Amino acid sequence: MTARFEVGPGGRLSGRLRVPGDKSISHRSIMLGAIAEGVTQVSGFLEGADAISTMNVFRSLGVRIDGPTGGRVTVHGVGLGGLKASDHPLDCGNAGTAMRLLMGLLSGQGFASTLIGDESLTKRPMRRVADPLSRMGADIRTHEGRPPVRIEPVAQLEGIRYEMPMASAQVKSALLLAGLSAKGVTEVIEPAPTRDHTERMLEGFGVRVEREGASVRLRGGQRLRATSIDVPSDISSAAFFMVGASIAPGSDLVLEHVGTNPTRTGILSILRLMGADIEEINPRVVGGEPVADLRVRHARLRGIDVPPELVPLAIDEFPVLFVAAACAEGRTRVTGAEELRVKESDRIAVMARGLQSLGVDATPTEDGMVIGGRPAAFDPAAPVFRGGQIDSHGDHRIAMSFAVAALRASDTVLIDDTANVATSFPGFVELARAAGLAIDARS
Ligand code: S3P
Repeated sequence: MTARFEVGPGGRLSGRLRVPGDKSISHRSIMLGAIAEGVTQVSGFLEGADAISTMNVFRSLGVRIDGPTGGRVTVHGVGLGGLKASDHPLDCGNAGTAMRLLMGLLSGQGFASTLIGDESLTKRPMRRVADPLSRMGADIRTHEGRPPVRIEPVAQLEGIRYEMPMASAQVKSALLLAGLSAKGVTEVIEPAPTRDHTERMLEGFGVRVEREGASVRLRGGQRLRATSIDVPSDISSAAFFMVGASIAPGSDLVLEHVGTNPTRTGILSILRLMGADIEEINPRVVGGEPVADLRVRHARLRGIDVPPELVPLAIDEFPVLFVAAACAEGRTRVTGAEELRVKESDRIAVMARGLQSLGVDATPTEDGMVIGGRPAAFDPAAPVFRGGQIDSHGDHRIAMSFAVAALRASDTVLIDDTANVATSFPGFVELARAAGLAIDARS
């Protein structure tokens, strides 16, 4: 039997808690630390399976990395030309970010590499990165657009100007990393703002990155100088508790040291449009990234049409936002979110099925979902979901979203196939239980 969650109905969330480090920033800290000159110290590193996959890949590429111990990692950088061929395929596990960014980084190296992943990653589209990299002169082969990915060495990459057809930080980052070893300037134009951790961190390593409106540019041949990186808590992990506290009457919770980079705060904007009560306390900048403590109290949510421009800024938070929408008064409509279909699972189909099985009026559309919501006179403490059994399809964010839904369920919610929660949120069960969720993990 696979791992599962058993979550008792009701309860409220309270206290102070710190969720683990940001996944996007943790991946990048290893990658940039590895190709920098000198020793990079990382603190607050996410000790989850995805970031550990990246760490192990770089060890296979000849980089000494100490840790993680209590979120501390030491990366002994080898410089951009110092990576060595691995004698075995590089296993990215469940991590799309690892694979796509590595495609960029490795395409300009003087050796061949093969990138592989788990069952979910092996189904995910890689042409979005392989195509523009090929235009830079890279020799990249996929298996019908999906992993495994084979990268052969080429004499020299050339910088290109690339207008991305989709808003994707992974595509943007892959091209910028390839651009470091390309001749001339690499420029990426985004159709909408996406997370800019790569740009910020490159600057922290001393690389000149020119940003102007939707354009990001860098010149190849620049060297990275080691630095220290303090990884903030992951707003995508905090999101489960933001929604949980918002929907559960009596909740009052403080989430400490959460990354509030404006390219990641779509969840805050959307929940506030729905009427959530979220206060940002003590905003500060830590290692080039904005951070704040977030105080979240229960509020009566209302359904909205989610503004499409907020979608890329909350792309990983939609599973739990659908749960919030189910608890809101009136209908919520999400459009422009077709990317959700190619995440760790088809998050539109899997969430709609799960919500329907708990009694929610949820209609999947090609690019989003329409969720019926509650009538105006609905008692804000009454159960919204009936109990039931959910198949998370091995998707960490689906599993955690339904765990939080149990706060407003009438009966126990069982969630199957939850082992992958450890990819992004090790310790979720313990932290959620300490905050007030009646959750148990079973195997
Ligand atoms: C990520 C970018 C996003 C996000 C993923 C992490 C990153 O993917 O969904 O979880 O770290 O760059 P896309 O770039 O495909 O939108």
